[in-house]
Amino acid sequence: MCGIVGYVGQGKIVSMLLDGLKNLEYRGYDSSGIALEHDNRIITIKRKGKVAELLQELASLPEKDRGYGITHTRWATHGEPSETNAHPHLSSDNRIAVVHNGIIENYLALREFLKENKIPFRSETDSEVLPLLINFFYKGNLEQAILNVLPLLQGTFGFLAISNQEEKIVGVKKGSPLVVGISEQGTFFGSDVSAFLEHTKDVHYLKEGEMVVATKDGFIVKDFQNNVVDTKIEKVTWTIGQIQKGNFKHFMHKEIHEQPRVIRDAFAGRISPTDIRIDGMRELGGAQFINKIKRIIFLGCGTSKHAAIYAQYLFEKLGFSAHAEDAAEWRYRNPHITKEDFIVAISQSGETADTLEAIRLAKSKGATTFGVVNVVGSSIAREVDTGIYIHAGPEIGVASTKAFTTQMICLYLLGIYCSIHSEKLLIDLKQVYTNLEKLPDQVQALLNKEDEINSVAQAYKNYHHFQFLGRGLDYVCALEGALKLEEISYLPSKGMSAAEVKHGPIAVVDEDMPIIVLVGDGLLRQKMISNIEELKARKGNVLAFALEGDSAVSTIADHTIFLPKVPHLLSPLISSVAVQLLAYHIANINECEIDKPKNLAKSVTVE
Ligand code: M6R
Repeated sequence: MCGIVGYVGQGKIVSMLLDGLKNLEYRGYDSSGIALEHDNRIITIKRKGKVAELLQELASLPEKDRGYGITHTRWATHGEPSETNAHPHLSSDNRIAVVHNGIIENYLALREFLKENKIPFRSETDSEVLPLLINFFYKGNLEQAILNVLPLLQGTFGFLAISNQEEKIVGVKKGSPLVVGISEQGTFFGSDVSAFLEHTKDVHYLKEGEMVVATKDGFIVKDFQNNVVDTKIEKVTWTIGQIQKGNFKHFMHKEIHEQPRVIRDAFAGRISPTDIRIDGMRELGGAQFINKIKRIIFLGCGTSKHAAIYAQYLFEKLGFSAHAEDAAEWRYRNPHITKEDFIVAISQSGETADTLEAIRLAKSKGATTFGVVNVVGSSIAREVDTGIYIHAGPEIGVASTKAFTTQMICLYLLGIYCSIHSEKLLIDLKQVYTNLEKLPDQVQALLNKEDEINSVAQAYKNYHHFQFLGRGLDYVCALEGALKLEEISYLPSKGMSAAEVKHGPIAVVDEDMPIIVLVGDGLLRQKMISNIEELKARKGNVLAFALEGDSAVSTIADHTIFLPKVPHLLSPLISSVAVQLLAYHIANINECEIDKPKNLAKSVTVE
């Protein structure tokens, strides 16, 4: 939640900061602000609403060719979205400014301490205690003041602090993401690399408990005990084009259309007709490790949880004991975890607080952890024992699309790898490879039906709520379709197993209830057809996504969109793209804020 950016150097300060802020807006967008040094004073401008509101104000701000500043785009946790609660927060004498991502959990106690010292507050936020405390300890050395404050803080934070008296930025990471970008023009900070990708691809990913002191001449990294620690400069592979919309109206639309390519990127180099390679699994010991594990638990939140459910169904079909869990619930359930458990954490951002904490819990019990992650260098990627990157490239739209399909591809590869190495099933690797090779074109064939899906979206645009139904692997896509539609169009949507409907939800079915049914092949197809009959008997309005030529479905459904036929275990790769397009077009027709839906943020780094 929240995006933070900092820059110290010889470039144009305001532009450098705002370029970064615009690129991070997907992380939170209910208010934003900037603070920079000018004539030995800290100037601050804050606005409620999207970054565009702030940009309008900034026309009056003097540009500087060298100096330092920090900026922030907020997703409110403590205190409503407002100009006062927006960051940067300042010390009472306006000499210290701070932008913060995370939650200072003991802020009430810290406020009491500050009150006792007659230090007033301006906002309702937890974050404001940071500049107030830093100022309390400040004696001309910013990092020393921060080192005094750190032991007092409980909770999670990535924050940047500046003072009007020193040309430097101090960045601190504990539990919330923070990266440093290094260029000849100066040093950048960002919640992720898109904050400075236009300017540099050289980054240092801060580890937990690191503090960076940056000046125009460079930076040093210290731990919270003030010891200098080694830095590792890494090259980012993401490109600027990937974080721009190109000719698309929305990032979500662009990202849906990138799927044929990123699906290929996810499996390319990992599989051939004769071999499958997952380096992380080899590191764990390959066949020896797989044969030792008793149970595989897939964890995630939101869309990544749906990928976990896909993995559960897949691994069970491949003969493993597999479970999918909501990371947030699982970690508080006192789950029974053993050293023979293999815990697979799935996360696009690699920063989701609940998934990260679930991993920590699993590790503390001696289980082996594996990440299926998109963002390189993210917290989950660092904390797991090993893992696989999904190679989806930057996903900017808040609704996860290409990350979901590439997560499923990586989980599919993991399933095939485990199956081959455990010899549970006889796998025809050549056939698996051929099926994957065909898949990007089949996804493209579905994308080519976009006009048809758009017309259906027109027909359904005025309904107020939806149900999405499926069985087996289509159940996963029903859950995902409902989540996609609900988050970007604000239309309440429920995804469930078609078998579950008659246990209650059928009570609300009538001509005003559109029901999206996903009908694949296999064992459960005939049962789905019976379910559609039951819905039609109650006047439900049925839109079916069925396999090419399935006339048994199209004759009973109100509308049918035919999907390309692919091998069963890969079918969610097609159905999920179909429901993404439907959700996108309904939201687009209704002129919703698709890339930045209200109340949401891309990365959920708080519980
Ligand atoms: O970054 P993660 O994959 O861990 O994020 C998990 C969820 O917050 C995320 O999938 C969310 O549900 C998306 N907005 C869904 O489109």
